[in-house]
Amino acid sequence: MSESLQDYLKTEQHRINMYMIGLLEKDKMLPAALSESVLYSMRAGGKRLRPILMQAAFESFGGQGDKVLPAAAALEMVHTYSLIHDDLPAMDDDDYRRGQLTNHKKFGEATAILAGDALLTRSFSIIGQADELRPEEKVFLMSYLSEAAGATGMIAGQALDMEAEGKESLLHELEQIHILKTGKLLTYAIVAGAFLAGAKQETLELMKQFGMYIGLIFQIQDDILDVTGDESVIGKPVGSDEANKKSTYPKLLGLEGAKEQMEKYVDLAHQCLEQAIIKSSRLHELTVYLSRRTS
Ligand code: IPE
Ligand code: IPE
Ligand code: MG
Ligand code: MG
Ligand code: MG
Repeated sequence: MSESLQDYLKTEQHRINMYMIGLLEKDKMLPAALSESVLYSMRAGGKRLRPILMQAAFESFGGQGDKVLPAAAALEMVHTYSLIHDDLPAMDDDDYRRGQLTNHKKFGEATAILAGDALLTRSFSIIGQADELRPEEKVFLMSYLSEAAGATGMIAGQALDMEAEGKESLLHELEQIHILKTGKLLTYAIVAGAFLAGAKQETLELMKQFGMYIGLIFQIQDDILDVTGDESVIGKPVGSDEANKKSTYPKLLGLEGAKEQMEKYVDLAHQCLEQAIIKSSRLHELTVYLSRRTS
C-alpha cells in the first residue's frame, strides 16, 4: 500500500469516527444496556471503507468540505447493523467480529437485535437533521439508502445468501447475491459521494456500474479471506463460510479461479473510472487496495 493511501485511510477513519461516535454518544438511548451494546459495535474499529469510498468519490468530482459526513455516518451505521444481525445464531452464527466478541455473545440475542434496529433507524434521522444538506439532497439520500439497504438491496442479498446455503449455486446466481448483499451499500457510498459533489446523471450511472464492480471485488476478497485469512488480522472467524455451507467464489471456482475473476472485475472497475472525468486517482488506488486487502 502506498504511504499516501495509508495516511488517507487513517485520516478519514479518524474523521468519520469522531463525527459518528460523537453523535451516538450524545443520543439519550434507553436503556443503558442498549446504549452500551450500540456503542460496543460502533467503537469496535471497522475499516470504515464505505465512508472512505464516499469521501473519495466526493473528492473525485471536486467536492470539498464536510458535506458527506452525515450520509457517510448513516451508511456506516446501516453496515454495522447488518453485521450485528449477520452474526446472529439464526444467520451465520459467528462469535467474533472486529476483533471482539460478537454483539449477541456479549449482550444476548435480544439486545443485539435491538441494537441493530436502533442503528438502522437512527441512520435516517442523521441525514434528516443534517444542517449542511439541502432538502432535496436529504430526500435523495434517504430514499436511495432505504432502497440500497432494503429488500431490493442488501436484505435481498442476505435472504438469497441464506437460501443458497447447502446448494450448488451457478456463477450468475452467486454474482447476484454478491451484487445485492455487498454491492448495493458500496454502490450507495460511491453514488452518494458523487451526487453530493454535483456529478451529472450520466456520471452517476457510470458510478453505479463502478460500485457494482467494487461490490463484487470486495465480496470475492471477503470470501477468499474466509479461507486464507488470518483471524487476528481480519478480526472474525476463518472457515465460517465452509461451516455454514455457503455459496462462495472459492467454493465454485477454486481460490485461483476466484482471484482471476476478481482481477477481471478490477479491470472493469478501472474502465468505468476512465470513462468518468475524475479529478484524482484515489478511486483507482482504492480499487486495487480492496482487491489486495488482508483485513
Ligand atoms: C464485512 O464488511 C461484511 C461484508 C460486506 C463483506 P467489512 O470488511 O467492511 O467489515 P468492517 O466494517 O471492516 O468490520
Ligand atoms: C455479509 O457477508 C454481508 C452483509 C450484508 C453483512 P458475510 O456473511 O460474508 O460477511 P462476514 O464475512 O460475516 O463479514
Ligand atoms: Mg453472511
Ligand atoms: Mg457473516
Ligand atoms: Mg464473509
